[in-house]
Amino acid sequence: MTEPKRLHVITWGCQMNVYDSGRMADVLAPLGYAPAAEAAGADMVILNTCHIREKAVDKVFSELGRLRQLKDASDGRMILAVAGCVAQAEGAEIIARAPYVDIVLGPQTYHRLPEMVARASRAGNKVIETDFPPEDKFDHLPDSATPQGVTAFLTVQEGCDKFCSFCVVPYTRGAEQSRPAAAILREARHLVGQGAREITLLGQNVNAWHGDGTDGSTWGLGRLLHALANIPNLLRLRYATSHPRDMDDDLIAAHRDIPILMPFLHLPVQSGSDRILAAMNRKHTAVDYRRIVDRLREVRPDLALSSDFIVGHPGETQADFDATMTLVRDVGFAQAYSFKYSRRFGTPAAGAPDQVPEAEKDRRLQMLQALLREQQSRFAAGCVGLTLPVLFTGPGRHPGQISGRSPFLQPVHLSGHSDLIGNESLARIVAAHPNSLAGTLVQERLIA
Ligand code: 5AD
Ligand code: SF4
Repeated sequence: MTEPKRLHVITWGCQMNVYDSGRMADVLAPLGYAPAAEAAGADMVILNTCHIREKAVDKVFSELGRLRQLKDASDGRMILAVAGCVAQAEGAEIIARAPYVDIVLGPQTYHRLPEMVARASRAGNKVIETDFPPEDKFDHLPDSATPQGVTAFLTVQEGCDKFCSFCVVPYTRGAEQSRPAAAILREARHLVGQGAREITLLGQNVNAWHGDGTDGSTWGLGRLLHALANIPNLLRLRYATSHPRDMDDDLIAAHRDIPILMPFLHLPVQSGSDRILAAMNRKHTAVDYRRIVDRLREVRPDLALSSDFIVGHPGETQADFDATMTLVRDVGFAQAYSFKYSRRFGTPAAGAPDQVPEAEKDRRLQMLQALLREQQSRFAAGCVGLTLPVLFTGPGRHPGQISGRSPFLQPVHLSGHSDLIGNESLARIVAAHPNSLAGTLVQERLIA
């Protein structure tokens, strides 16, 4: 029997990293690694990093400084690995500046982690693996082995060919790759067998998914969602993150035809100005975006929208920013993420001459965030008095309470027995708090 070892994974960034951290733990389990809650005393620590905005590299080195002390305290026994997009972009620099790091691995190489651990365990070896290998990473990763919660993530697509002017993803995650439908369906059934009731399909450009179908033809995401919706006991489906260009007719129709596809969509628009959208290389206009939203709301009137925004992209004038504010007012978002443009080395926008001053970016961000916050509160307040299905995900903060999620991804707290966890029931929403809703049970709908 392999001696038990403790593995601690620190995850920063997007849901894809959360999913990848789980898969890394899964590939290391056969080597005897079991999850540890803390880095102190662990036999191996993986820092899974994010490169999307500025200061990412500084943040990594500062965390590595802290981990170095824990490694020293273990007499150097602890294996320290850096994964994720900073590892992909800065592999050699990490080993040069932090020689106590044993392994640097990019997102395409996680399936080879056991072999890297073996190589690093031979004293003094450093391992850097940041190639984009020709083989398909998905073929080599095990299905989720660790028991998941009621809500689970499933990566169906990785990488991006869109090359937005500001974004590092096409460089750190590589070209678009779609996983075949059969493998996705198998993993989804497995997750549901382990208790998952809601699955969120993940991909940097998830709605660009086009993979081999189970009938030999190529499927798009709409078709895949139909196949997933047939899995018994799966109560909810979601997908993130999408690009407006890839919202095709089939996918829009899926929002009408699949009851378990939740009426909540994260559809980043980034800007409301056509000039800036063109500079961003987004390949759509503000009107294109509005049309897509109109079509989605026609087929699913209760659809709530979320988006990403960037203020202060090079060349953004006050008029461009005003166009973004107008789009936000017209479309109305239930929730959103907004960022100041952050210059990423190697991306086209980083070299643009007309950078927007930091103070101006700050001012615009505050205005946009105030508007988005107001819309989010208004949306939540609008839920009060409604009866909504809630999927219960875990115990609440107080005894006798349970918590769950609305169809629109809002946390809902109410009084109820923990037997309900994993089930969906109707709840009447009685109050809206800044980041959650309070409800009372109307009806219990237990599934087998
Ligand atoms: N600066 C600011 N925000 C960015 N994003 C991606 N790259 C940058 C950048 N260089 C934002 C986009 C994207 C989200 C994941 O992060 O809004 O949709
Ligand atoms: Fe980055 Fe998304 Fe644009 Fe791809 S589509 S380059 S991931 S912002």
